[in-house]
Amino acid sequence: MKTIHRLRRTLLATALAAGALALPFAASAQAPIVIKFSHVVAEQTPKGQGALKFKELAEKKLPGKVQVQVFPSSQLFGDAKELEALLLGDVQFIAPSLSKFDRYTKKIQVFDLPFLFDDIEAVDRFQSGPQGKALLESMRGRGLLGLGYWHNGMKQLSTNKDKLVRPGDVKGLKFRIQASDVLEAQFRALESNPQKMAFAEVYQALQTGVVDGQENTWSNIYSQKFHEVQKTIAETNHGVIDYMVVTNVKWWDGLPADVRKGLTEAMTEATAYANKLALDINEADRKKIADAGKAKIQKLSKDDVAAWRKSMEPVWKKFEGDIGRDLIDGALKSNK
Ligand code: LMR
Repeated sequence: MKTIHRLRRTLLATALAAGALALPFAASAQAPIVIKFSHVVAEQTPKGQGALKFKELAEKKLPGKVQVQVFPSSQLFGDAKELEALLLGDVQFIAPSLSKFDRYTKKIQVFDLPFLFDDIEAVDRFQSGPQGKALLESMRGRGLLGLGYWHNGMKQLSTNKDKLVRPGDVKGLKFRIQASDVLEAQFRALESNPQKMAFAEVYQALQTGVVDGQENTWSNIYSQKFHEVQKTIAETNHGVIDYMVVTNVKWWDGLPADVRKGLTEAMTEATAYANKLALDINEADRKKIADAGKAKIQKLSKDDVAAWRKSMEPVWKKFEGDIGRDLIDGALKSNK
């Protein structure tokens, strides 16, 4: 009898010891949190590079705790679907251009107003100021939280025509636009026909003549080969394509505090990295387009630019009510 008791006690002690050992072992062997980061552009663009930097930094700061999977070039979700996918929890980070949020807030439309910002430095000053920071938080009620702004650059206008100097040259032409009511109004002000279309479809639409032209940054034009299916790119710098990196509020708030902290740090560093690169990438891609010699780069005189500005500026008034005069004034102040 005694032997049986002893045996039971030994077995119990062994089981307890195994359990005690198994617990910390199980905790450390826990699967990492998988974070999907989806975007629509090529890897060599400013956003593509920013996403890869974020992955590198996040995995270094949180070893074994997170695994970041980056999906470029609309591989996972195109821009018609990515915001929905984020809200459904199918992806945890996206960085749509600021033109693609107008279903969620009208305020962010400020970035689409033509000729509002003089250059990307002015955009940066506005984004870093109190109004820009407040916009990052402005979609919380819709389930979206902005973690930072990433630059791409200023937009240029391209068409399949030889002449692209003054606004009259685009009259009656069809243009692909991002899903933004401001951009729609901008092309209507030019008496041309805008068509909202996902980024992944633009090359083919230009190639087949579904549309005659589009507006984009040098890095997007080059990486998508738009210059191979367009005749002229006018250096208008008439607007900006920048991004807000957004996450799902519920998912973000539910993360362990140390993971949220590590991801925030990784985002801050990746933002600085991507924003430093953006200007250089766009300048290099402008040169590559010029060297390729497929599309002509049309330089514009001061008077030409003034004519484009005059045609497009009436759009401001139209959206002032939705955006708010304070934001427009704040953006204008950032030019100085
Ligand atoms: C576009 O749709 O033209 C751009 O917003 C794509 C991008 O993400 O840069």
